[in-house]
Amino acid sequence: MAGSRSKTKAKKEAAVLEDATIEAIADYIIKGNVKNIIVMTGAGISTAAGIPDFRSKDTGLYDNLQRFELPYAEAIFDIDYFEERPEPFYALAKELYPGKYLPTKTHYFIRLLHDKKLLLRNFTQNIDTLERLSGLDSDKIVEAHGSFATASCVECDQPADMDNVKKAIIAGEIPRCEAGHCKSLVKPDITFFGQSLPKRFFKKLADFDEADLLIVIGTSLQVQPFASLIDNVPDYVPRLLINKDKAGEHHSPHHGFDFKWKYGRKRDAFFSGDCDQGCERLAELLGWKVTTVSWMRRRMTHSFCSAPGRT
Ligand code: OAD
Repeated sequence: MAGSRSKTKAKKEAAVLEDATIEAIADYIIKGNVKNIIVMTGAGISTAAGIPDFRSKDTGLYDNLQRFELPYAEAIFDIDYFEERPEPFYALAKELYPGKYLPTKTHYFIRLLHDKKLLLRNFTQNIDTLERLSGLDSDKIVEAHGSFATASCVECDQPADMDNVKKAIIAGEIPRCEAGHCKSLVKPDITFFGQSLPKRFFKKLADFDEADLLIVIGTSLQVQPFASLIDNVPDYVPRLLINKDKAGEHHSPHHGFDFKWKYGRKRDAFFSGDCDQGCERLAELLGWKVTTVSWMRRRMTHSFCSAPGRT
């Protein structure tokens, strides 16, 4: 027991940043303090692929749904509304259906963390399956809000044939359950408001106890329970937000980011700006020679050439 206590103490002492910057986070990694990074991601990491995020003013999805005449924007992902009026969701699903989008530099950066044996898990809110397309092992991905990869009946839960679901959605039709006489609505297994998150999400929550660095990218941290996960890593674990805007800032000493270190813990850092640039900067600081050309080549081939690294 004494041994485990001193191990915890050593970890606590190690987790002090020089500054609330991405440079300080890179130094922290280079010093060898990090082996188990959790990356939490949101829609901001896919905007460079051409997929809108949800809440950005003017460009976000929720500002561009007028054509569906919804009572409120989030209704498009509300299970009760869907069961009454599924057409808007299917029309949107046709527009967003995976297949025409490619992973971004940020997706490949996350894969690079895995290749460097530093990634414990990528918890993503995204349903676009671009993490899978980057070549990241499926075991490393937790799709917290489900994805378009599978679909099932809203009534009898039977899994649906994905070829048929895709054909129906692309043809502008509503897929129906083919199990027995059911014929109820089939919905991609995306978690709607009013539905519980996938079992795998809850199963993997224990990862947060094991994390030694948290990187949060491209999310407004406005949707629960995902948003609160930033507080699930131990108190001594550094956290980096890479985002256009500050998100998830503190509302008490133990809840939310504290970029000004108001509560004395020197552990939160913020990179303000585009997430691809943030990831490129971090790779550069770590000595990973990832040029724009090689990022793009990876994007084209979905494969990695080895990049020299310090870890
Ligand atoms: P949001 O649209 O709420 O937030 C995206 C965040 O990414 C915002 O803070 C943007 O400023 C930022 N952002 C956008 N493009 C960026 C870029 N290129 N570089 C850096 N930052 C960028 O999306 P999420 O937080 O993912 O749920 O939304 C969470 C959930 O709300 C979604 O999973 C979805 C939605 O309702 C369901 O559908 C169940």
